[in-house]
Amino acid sequence: MLSRRNLCYTILIFVFGFSWATNETDVPEELKLVFVHTIWRHGDRTQDGHLNNDPVDPSKWIKGGGGYGQLTPEGMGQMFILGTKLRDRYVKTGFLHNFYDSQQYIKTTSHLSELFNTTFTWDNLWQVHDAVMIQLIHFPETVLNQTWYSPEFFHNLDELERPSKAFVAGLYDPPIVNGINVKRAILKTRGGPLINDISSRMRTKATCAKNDAKCDNYHRNLKFYAYSTHDHTVFALLTVLGLESIVAGPEKYGEWPDYASDILVELFHNSTDERAYFRILYQKNINATFEVVTHLAKGCKGLPFCDLSVFESKAKEFRPDRPIQELCQILPDVGNQVSTLIKSVMNRYSDYESSSNSNYWFVSIIIAIFCFFNKT
Ligand SMILES: *[C@@H]1O[C@H](CO)[C@@H](O)[C@H](O)[C@H]1NC(C)=O
Ligand SMILES: *[C@@H]1O[C@H](CO)[C@@H](O)[C@H](O)[C@H]1NC(C)=O
Ligand SMILES: *[C@@H]1O[C@H](CO)[C@@H](O)[C@H](O)[C@H]1NC(C)=O
Ligand SMILES: *[C@@H]1O[C@H](CO)[C@@H](O)[C@H](O)[C@H]1NC(C)=O
Ligand SMILES: *[C@@H]1O[C@H](CO)[C@@H](O)[C@H](O)[C@H]1NC(C)=O
Repeated sequence: MLSRRNLCYTILIFVFGFSWATNETDVPEELKLVFVHTIWRHGDRTQDGHLNNDPVDPSKWIKGGGGYGQLTPEGMGQMFILGTKLRDRYVKTGFLHNFYDSQQYIKTTSHLSELFNTTFTWDNLWQVHDAVMIQLIHFPETVLNQTWYSPEFFHNLDELERPSKAFVAGLYDPPIVNGINVKRAILKTRGGPLINDISSRMRTKATCAKNDAKCDNYHRNLKFYAYSTHDHTVFALLTVLGLESIVAGPEKYGEWPDYASDILVELFHNSTDERAYFRILYQKNINATFEVVTHLAKGCKGLPFCDLSVFESKAKEFRPDRPIQELCQILPDVGNQVSTLIKSVMNRYSDYESSSNSNYWFVSIIIAIFCFFNKT
């Protein structure tokens, strides 16, 4: 009996402990919020362009400013709600001034691409999905009226679209293909620059919080940094953090974030140990609330506040080792430093050797290294 009661208490403590852990209003006394990064996806928009046999005439896209790839009034409404939530969280609490100034910085990423009237492949399949999904929101009567449309059609399109998006995002399983760690190479190019940008800004602010004398004026004033982005940017950051399943759960693994989804990366200073801690929250869509997800990140030991060094080691793991334009020009390597070194040495001689000779040299060097280490 006693042990059963103990078990019940344990479960109760676990349940309470867990709800405490995920209750975002609870910040321990020793922690002080010093900085916030936010990375959101825009709100509802019109479709990206016209398709062949498109049931919706281009002239019908008059919402918002009109035209393709534009925020609709619904999308503007979602952004307004998101703004209100951020205001309640950071302005009403006195963390930020109630006017836009040097405390805040907002950055936007690339425009929607324009690529239509082409054969559909894995690369541009999303355009069909995009158009149908958006027309179902804005012109449902037109789409439902099409002979080709059925709920199964859209369900199948969805099922086809998800793996293709997971693929594009670098979620390879297994990650190694032909000796190349494709997952790591893709994550590095997509999420690497962003996580490193955030990580280094947090380190600078953490130093400021610890020792104001080491802080420059720009960073002393700065408290809030927003990235206004697309689904792929929000998703890229979640994937490098290993949090991609929070978007739609394990059943819909690979699904990209919804309109007005938002990541918050909060930085805290712990006055007890004088160290920096971070907390990550995610809002799935405009109707959802911000939920703490830090405990799901590897290395955070299931805790809502995690040592900044964990974030930094993730950033380091995916840091692009050369400027991104350069990185995108070269084929990913086997990822092994020894082979990279050997290849760079070989490249110096490549003017003298044919490529088959290079392979011969490569094999000889491997054999030589093998013999060297087996000598003893
Ligand atoms: C979070 O904590 C506050 C204050 O302790 C409480 O009122 C609220 O219900 C809690 N929310 C959740 C989701 O547990
Ligand atoms: C599609 O592209 C072809 C060739 O590029 C062009 O001739 C045709 O008019 C285009 N169709 C539409 C509907 O834009
Ligand atoms: C739907 O189809 C019917 C019959 O083909 C047609 O009369 C009606 O105009 C269509 N409605 C729309 C919104 O396209
Ligand atoms: C703050 O630092 C102290 C001392 O290391 C530690 O015990 C405490 O758990 C830290 N607070 C949080 C929220 O991690
Ligand atoms: C949010 O809730 C509103 C009102 O219930 C609903 O019309 C809308 O479709 C919901 N949006 C999302 C993205 O779930």
